[in-house]
Amino acid sequence: MKQDNITSKPWSGRFTEATDSFVETFSASVNFDKRLYRYDIEASIAHARMLAKVGLLDKSEFQSIEKGLLDIKNDIEHHDFAWLIELEDVHMNIEARLTERIGIAGKKLHTGRSRNDQVATDLRLYLREEIDHICTALRRLQLTLLDIAEREAETILPGFTHLQVAQPVTFGHHMLAWHEMLKRDFERLGDCRRRVNIMPLGAAALAGTSYPIDRAYTAELLGFDRATENSLDAVSDRDFVIEFISSAALIMTHLSRFSEELILWSSAQFNFIELSDRFCTGSSIMPQKKNPDIPELVRGKTGRVNGNLIALLTVMKAQPLAYNKDNQEDKEPLFDTVDTVKGSLQVFANMMPTMKIKKTHMLVAAHQGFSTATDLADYLVRHGVAFRDAHEIVGKAVCYGLENEKDLADMSLEELQQFSSEIGTDVFDVLTLSGSVAARDHLGGTAPRQVRAAILRARKNL
Ligand code: ARG
Repeated sequence: MKQDNITSKPWSGRFTEATDSFVETFSASVNFDKRLYRYDIEASIAHARMLAKVGLLDKSEFQSIEKGLLDIKNDIEHHDFAWLIELEDVHMNIEARLTERIGIAGKKLHTGRSRNDQVATDLRLYLREEIDHICTALRRLQLTLLDIAEREAETILPGFTHLQVAQPVTFGHHMLAWHEMLKRDFERLGDCRRRVNIMPLGAAALAGTSYPIDRAYTAELLGFDRATENSLDAVSDRDFVIEFISSAALIMTHLSRFSEELILWSSAQFNFIELSDRFCTGSSIMPQKKNPDIPELVRGKTGRVNGNLIALLTVMKAQPLAYNKDNQEDKEPLFDTVDTVKGSLQVFANMMPTMKIKKTHMLVAAHQGFSTATDLADYLVRHGVAFRDAHEIVGKAVCYGLENEKDLADMSLEELQQFSSEIGTDVFDVLTLSGSVAARDHLGGTAPRQVRAAILRARKNL
């Protein structure tokens, strides 16, 4: 026997048996998709306004639908709304409550649409807004990095390749490297947003609808750039979600690499920085410990987002056209990705300005590991030695330095001249760290002058 109350399902007409009670719980999405309520209501109001425009609702019906939906929104926001598992998802919960409140007009809201185009629309509205939030968070972190780069344009640290000391670089230049990555992340999201901001509504279940709907009008009301071109595609593909998560995975990959450096730099072995106590924790057993938890956690959370990307690709890969229930599995990975990226960007932007930079330790480290060896080779080339010969000569000088525990800059002129008679007193200008960085004075180079110019360009771009 069917119950004629709010919990009877909108599709129950064709059914004679009640849903298995475990299946009801297993297949319900309301516990997580209720997060879409605002977009669901916004899209429903726009849909109803369009129905009124084309004469499928009269004015008073539209008005009571609009008021009913706004009242429901208010109830939800005041935690005065009972979400029911029996009603499966956010869409049916809201629609059922609307009908309960306003009667017959509520039953007309679903004219010319389906949950399939409805959920795709809600998801795009949600994601569009979240992309904007993430872009703002990216900008904030970019600005923080530019401020640090400006302050530390002259600060020298060893640059590494293979995690071995390579050549000295400026800390400002190093910060600008991270800034560049975030700049590309920002651009990628903007690109993704253009494909998110297209409206599926009107595709209905899969084939469109026989009512004389005005999709362009609904799209305009909702701020979409346009309506989708193909109804089958509109209700079924989640490539926009996958594209977003893949951009998010790159953001996390960048933050994870950045975290890795902060963690290394905080160690006693590097000792280049100290993170503020506000972003670290101690050990319950080792009293001396101060652990860089936040960068570690961000590095760890990268795994989640990568997992979400694989989850969505896998959800999509074997689906025939058009909508399939598989797509309900898109939401939790998407929500989790949004939360993770937003949280990670926020914590980074808060943490970075509090980071103490230990210039002296960086400088001492840059003095070790023969970081100006390339400068000596370049000096010899300027004095007429072929680069490969210069490379060999400097290699020998480094061997000598290793045996005698002396950096190139600490050797006497006589010691250096053992390796080449081309070496003169002016060699010490290029063996200094500041001389080395200042010499890399071209677009994209590490010289403080170039760092300052790059910061100016970056600020103009923001
Ligand atoms: N909760 C569903 C989802 O997330 C909404 C669409 C349901 N459509 C359907 N025909 N069962 O995808």
